[in-house]
Amino acid sequence: MYETPELDNETFTRSSAIRIYDQDDFEGMRIAGRLVAEALDMIAPYVVPGVTTGELDDLIREYTLDRGGLPACLGYKGYTKTVCTSINHVVCHGIPGDRVLKDGDIVNIDHTVIVDGWHGDSSRMYAVGNINPRSKKLIDVTYEALMLGLEQVKPGNTFGDIGYVIQRHVEAARMSVVRDFCGHGIGRVFHDSPNVLHYGRKGEGAVLKPGMCFTVEPMVNLGKPHVKVLSDGWTAVTRDKSLSAQCEHTVGVTEDGVEIFSASPAGLFRPN
Ligand code: MF3
Ligand code: CO
Ligand code: CO
Repeated sequence: MYETPELDNETFTRSSAIRIYDQDDFEGMRIAGRLVAEALDMIAPYVVPGVTTGELDDLIREYTLDRGGLPACLGYKGYTKTVCTSINHVVCHGIPGDRVLKDGDIVNIDHTVIVDGWHGDSSRMYAVGNINPRSKKLIDVTYEALMLGLEQVKPGNTFGDIGYVIQRHVEAARMSVVRDFCGHGIGRVFHDSPNVLHYGRKGEGAVLKPGMCFTVEPMVNLGKPHVKVLSDGWTAVTRDKSLSAQCEHTVGVTEDGVEIFSASPAGLFRPN
């Protein structure tokens, strides 16, 4: 067991206003975003039939610590692992352990690092062995929904514009957007204002301004949007047991668009 990372929650608490970060701050976010992306790239070849989610968690923790990053989830609100591993009908916050991955599973790995106080938060889908066409379609639609949402990130647009295009794309595919979890402001605080909804209407919500940093992390279900949290207090599953997928990036608003801090150096963000 590793020690809980020291987080200065006295100095950096959640604010109600949306913070604006400067160029030096963006450099910090870039470094944190790169490390989380490299960790998610590193793990790809290990996500195969026979491996346990606990082994994947160990590999990512070691990799992150070796490169000077702190695992932000370790010790966060009593969470005892480095990453979340959400398999099949698990929507998010699946806890790594003895579960052995098997051919045909789909799994989301969600990792957050802290480097020099800055947070990088990203998650991707991984296909275990050969997956069926329905699972593949779910992963594709979730990835496309995230990237369409990020195309809306530019000064003058609103958070509602992001949610609107995500919801439209998902529902056009006859899938559903989870409402019970959302993206979040991020910087020196892990989960800051605003709540970034993955559904909504054009023009609603706060206006995007250069310097804002947040995550977009849609969760998409093949069935109904409803979720429940299991008795472990973390694992969120679809109520109807349908498959669920999620993709997450940490981004910043620039003068004319978006910078994706957690972009994959190896080009592996979208699974094949
Ligand atoms: N990484 C998750 C997010 O996207 C948060 C996980 S918190 C944990 O916001 F404690 F469950 F790890
Ligand atoms: Co995350
Ligand atoms: Co997040």
